Amino acid sequence: MNIILLGPPGAGKGTQARQLEEKYGLVQLSTGDMLRAAVRKGEPLGQEAKAIMDRGALVPDELMIRLISERIAQPDCAKGFILDGFPRTIPQAQALDKMLLNVNSKLDAVVELKVDEGKLVERVAGRFTCAKCGEGYHDRFKPTRAPGVCDQCAGTDFSRRADDNAEAMKTRLKAYRDETAPILPYYAARGVLKAVDGMAPMPDVFRALEGALGLVV
Ligand code: AP5
Repeated sequence: MNIILLGPPGAGKGTQARQLEEKYGLVQLSTGDMLRAAVRKGEPLGQEAKAIMDRGALVPDELMIRLISERIAQPDCAKGFILDGFPRTIPQAQALDKMLLNVNSKLDAVVELKVDEGKLVERVAGRFTCAKCGEGYHDRFKPTRAPGVCDQCAGTDFSRRADDNAEAMKTRLKAYRDETAPILPYYAARGVLKAVDGMAPMPDVFRALEGALGLVV
């Protein structure tokens, strides 16, 4: 099963994609995570993308299309994947159609996480991640069980994203409205678009997502 999760910054795409990966063995393809890894490793792509990401704008289509087309062609993606952060523009959506044709695959569902924009700054401002295993947390909505210790790997080093601030969020939300939201009618016209309430508590969102994807009856 190949799925796209769509929604503005902080909607919960990464949170839900990680759970789908864990429970159903689908591969999470997060373009944001791939870019941040390229920044950490000092790769040319990371050097090109860093300033753009930090201010909350979109990285050029051609770079993103190359990145994801190389990843989707890898053997592990044949068992199914969840795209989290791609496509983000109509040209990216069109390029994805071609990529899937090339690997003899298709899109099964596109799920929009519907959220209240006014609550998203709080979501991203409170987000932090274990530097060792990448587990995601939130100061208020998902704190670590023991203060300062990762529930998964007992790591004690955590990081926060450079673009998780109110100023960059304005640009990220505008980019979503202007460049990403126009993808929704593109997929609605093909009958693959579904919607889930992303404002519910995390486990409820996951159950609704499973229902929308036909994974539970
Ligand atoms: P990316 O990393 O994709 O960021 P984003 O789309 O802005 O999404 P986020 O990761 O901020 O949010 P999310 O929806 O995954 O929320 P999460 O689950 O973490 O992209 C970053 C940048 O990279 C872009 O700005 C751009 O520059 C570049 N880029 C990436 N892909 C690109 C592309 N295709 N084209 C061009 N540029 C690209 O949740 C957020 C927080 O809320 C967490 O702390 C979580 O614990 C909490 N939370 C989640 N769900 C709930 C809930 N139901 N209730 C309460 N709290 C919740």
